[in-house]
Amino acid sequence: MQTPEQVAAAFDLLADQHDAMRWDLALSEFDASVLASLEGIATANVASSALFLAGGSGREALSFVMHGWKCDLVELSRRMLELAECRLHKFDLRIVESEAARYLADTTEKYDFISMVGELVGYVQEPRSILRAAALRLRPDGLIAVTWVDSSSLAATRQTEEQGVVALVERDDLEIRAWTCETMQKYVDAARLTVVLRSGRMAESPRRFWILRKEM
Ligand SMILES: C[S@@+](CC[C@H](N)C(=O)[O-])C[C@H]1O[C@@H](n2cnc3c(N)ncnc32)[C@H](O)[C@@H]1O
Repeated sequence: MQTPEQVAAAFDLLADQHDAMRWDLALSEFDASVLASLEGIATANVASSALFLAGGSGREALSFVMHGWKCDLVELSRRMLELAECRLHKFDLRIVESEAARYLADTTEKYDFISMVGELVGYVQEPRSILRAAALRLRPDGLIAVTWVDSSSLAATRQTEEQGVVALVERDDLEIRAWTCETMQKYVDAARLTVVLRSGRMAESPRRFWILRKEM
């Protein structure tokens, strides 16, 4: 598994292409449905505080900043952070250069919404821990939006030590982990969260989108 520094270096190289894909080009059906759900959360709830972990160039924060939420975006890649600044400088967005698990360990902030869109859980060493750490920073009744890769329809490139988790090589310099719905459900249970929406059964993508709630 790669280090956070290796992930940052890989995304520094991918950032401009990724930014164009998120902001300028037609979105895939999966990405469009995720952004529509996030917009629903941003508009249906009273504006409060939101955290975008591994927020990239900020696309999923857009509807929240536009609706007056107080937003923090945490990201490893410097180039992604520059692009986020370019895209969202007019809005109330705090941009933080940090590894996501480090940020969650250090911050004392509490949030009403946390985004882990963009498969953050697949890039970190400890997906279960980062989900649990995010749940601890959530206010009661708060929501987490998470996207992840479902391994059940994919050929594994390497089986990892943990049963049910496989590593897929995205590019030579980037590896992402995938697992089944059963494994994801175990991570969610361990974080004491409840799944309120499961989506992403489209044939085009092995990615899944779940919304999780922290019970009162
Ligand atoms: C596929 S991109 C998604 C970016 C953004 N969330 C979006 O959907 O447009 C994944 C992002 O996760 C960031 N990332 C991966 N691991 C991270 C970590 N441990 N801490 C912070 N950012 C991380 C990468 O730098 C990259 O920008």
